[in-house]
Amino acid sequence: MKITIFGTGYVGLVTGACLADVGHDVLCMDVDQGKIEKLKNGKIPIYEPGLDSIVKHTVEAGRLSFTTDTEQAVKHGTLQFIAVGTPPDEDGSADLQYVLAVAKSIGQYMDDYKVVVDKSTVPVGTGDKVKAAVRAQLDKRGLELDFDVVSNPEFLKEGAAINDFMKPDRIVVGTDSEQAAELLREVYYPFNRNHDRMIFMDIRSAELTKYAANSMLATKISFMNEMSNLAERLGADIEAVRRGIGSDPRIGYHFIYPGCGYGGSCFPKDVQALARTAGDCDYEAKLLNAVEAVNYAQKHVLFDKISHFFQGDLKGKVVAVWGLAFKPNTDDMREASSRTLMENLWKAGATVQAFDPEAMEETQRIYGDHEGLTLCGTKEQALKGADVLAICTEWKEFRSPDFNLIAGALKQPAVFDGRNLYEPEMLERHGLVYYAIGRGRNQFHSAG
Ligand SMILES: NC(=O)c1ccc[n+]([C@@H]2O[C@H](COP(=O)([O-])OP(=O)(O)OC[C@H]3O[C@@H](n4cnc5c(N)ncnc54)[C@H](O)[C@@H]3O)[C@@H](O)[C@H]2O)c1
Repeated sequence: MKITIFGTGYVGLVTGACLADVGHDVLCMDVDQGKIEKLKNGKIPIYEPGLDSIVKHTVEAGRLSFTTDTEQAVKHGTLQFIAVGTPPDEDGSADLQYVLAVAKSIGQYMDDYKVVVDKSTVPVGTGDKVKAAVRAQLDKRGLELDFDVVSNPEFLKEGAAINDFMKPDRIVVGTDSEQAAELLREVYYPFNRNHDRMIFMDIRSAELTKYAANSMLATKISFMNEMSNLAERLGADIEAVRRGIGSDPRIGYHFIYPGCGYGGSCFPKDVQALARTAGDCDYEAKLLNAVEAVNYAQKHVLFDKISHFFQGDLKGKVVAVWGLAFKPNTDDMREASSRTLMENLWKAGATVQAFDPEAMEETQRIYGDHEGLTLCGTKEQALKGADVLAICTEWKEFRSPDFNLIAGALKQPAVFDGRNLYEPEMLERHGLVYYAIGRGRNQFHSAG
């Protein structure tokens, strides 16, 4: 099938590559010329395991190509996927300018039946706005062309995006058109061979499904973080509590890890946007607001512990930071906890020696040559001359480090672990003082 994808970010590029991989003829369009140039030259602008080889062989096979030409993009696909960003507006609601710009372009250039498939995460009611934006352009052109709008939210996880796309738990399709539903069934047929993963519904329900899924996951994290703060004050160990509750199949072990807060391009903005949507229809989303507030506070917990350790005087201190990406296996640093920590440390007069296996370029792009930041080539280099170590991302390579080396390199042998990677006794045996999240009374806890 002929498919156009607008937006070649984490979602658009993965979608385009995977659809081309199963045989579709895909054209990816982006307004970012630099990105398209890179892609045309065989370079992948983001780090996503497995993506490069799929892009390479689908490009070579002639099934995946890239353009900045909007008209060419609209003319190419019967299916027009929108996978552009929906960042938060100043008031927390989703900014729809990019989605509506694409809708407008489709209306400007289409000359036959199109299915406009919205993959971006958009507030309930956006389907109607997209429809109106396409229709307005057709009216201007005096054309009465037929088209359908479909909501097809994306559930992939950065770091595991290819697997998630190739073997999805579900493919949600919101539409009121049987013709569009048939075309979507055809597009996704290769992903349904094992069993039918498609769930059809109306457009509004599909839009809300995406927000409900992310809000549920964010709620689980904030709940565990709240429990971890309680555990610190009550002298309990959240890791024991986690195992204790996870064993209940109604709760389960998935996604109940305490930590130094969730980040990324989705949870923070989606929880806020849904709370905002609730406000717009005169409903106060008390739970969503609390999830957001708990997470905001949690992102400050590591700094509070470090500050407490140094009795509030961080001037001239050097903190080694391991892990800058918002989670492992990505270079994405949007809303990452590491950023809150580093920015707090700088404000308090400390400097940072940082290492991340994939996000160094991104850190450089965000902070430039910040005087409080030294980017180090290895995790060991980050330790040299540092006072203490803080861990913000649970990369595999941080799980079994040389603890003797850490103890020898740090001026003060203290490890502040925002991801609970280690057993406290293990570090104690190596002469390290260990401050993790929610692991008993010896932990400094935040006043907030
Ligand atoms: N990143 C994720 O893990 C994830 C998962 C599920 C859903 N989503 C949702 O998918 C959407 C895209 O997210 P992302 O992380 O891929 O964003 P991204 O910022 O990585 O990529 C968006 C791309 O869209 C391009 N763009 C902007 N305006 C355009 C236009 N008019 N025409 C063509 N391209 C345009 C940008 O240049 C950029 O390359 C968002 O709504 C997000 O909430 C993201």
